[in-house]
Amino acid sequence: MNTRFTFCMIKPDAFKNDTVSDILLEILKAGFKIRGIKITMLTKAKAEEFYDIHKGKEFFDRLTTFMSSGPVMAMVLEKPDAVESLRKLIGKTNPAEAEEGTIRNRFGTDTTHNTVHAADSYEHAEREWSFFFSKREIY
Ligand code: TYD
Repeated sequence: MNTRFTFCMIKPDAFKNDTVSDILLEILKAGFKIRGIKITMLTKAKAEEFYDIHKGKEFFDRLTTFMSSGPVMAMVLEKPDAVESLRKLIGKTNPAEAEEGTIRNRFGTDTTHNTVHAADSYEHAEREWSFFFSKREIY
């Protein structure tokens, strides 16, 4: 298992609120290197596939409708202990509960519109970047 890489996705609310560049800057200032990056749109079906572990939960339809409502920026990021480091930088799921200064605390609106996704394990990180990127698109 390689603990230098993780997967990150900037969500549609950041595009709507014009905070994508602020969020990117926070990620770069924290020392992450971008190894893959793309802007794309998820269809509802693709969003449902990406979040399939949440299928059946009360928020599943709200989440996947939101995630297919506008562009997303998918990224492969590199830094030592990448998963833990990025999770700490973004903060808790609910922006109101996220620690002061974290990305979700600064730029998020509510538990659904929380501006950024970060993989919660190395296994999930690899599954998630493979969902968006071919091998040739990761440097
Ligand atoms: P989860 O994996 O619990 O959180 P995290 O993104 O911090 O790993 O949930 C995934 C996404 O599902 C979360 O970022 C936003 C959405 N979500 C809701 O819309 N409502 C909720 O009550 C929860 C728990 C999550």
